[in-house]
Amino acid sequence: MKARTSWDVVCTVEDLVPESGVAVWTEDGPVAVFYLPHRLPALFAISHTDPFTGKNLLARGITGDLKGQPVVASPLYKQHFNLQTGQCLEDEEVAVKTYPVLLDGTNVRVEIPAANKESVAA
Ligand code: FES
Repeated sequence: MKARTSWDVVCTVEDLVPESGVAVWTEDGPVAVFYLPHRLPALFAISHTDPFTGKNLLARGITGDLKGQPVVASPLYKQHFNLQTGQCLEDEEVAVKTYPVLLDGTNVRVEIPAANKESVAA
């Protein structure tokens, strides 16, 4: 079978919080969708799970800019994650998953990898 991804609707524009993140559930696990209205593109999607603690809290982190990079700071220990690449700025061996995200009318869609779709279906 051919591998395919799907663009799942995870929330609508009304759910988004400017300069902040919202947590959504996907078949690939919890995802944090960030809306930074002063940036182009303005939407970012990364794993909601903090890799240092395994807790689902990254959507509640404070967003900002570090050296021109859009980042979120983990609410617990304040590590910063680049919202575009998922890279942790304090530890080069740690990164969180990132997801392509787009606005489709008023729906926010996140691209879910095919492998995870299939393992859920199996
Ligand atoms: S996107 Fe609004 S201050 Fe950075």
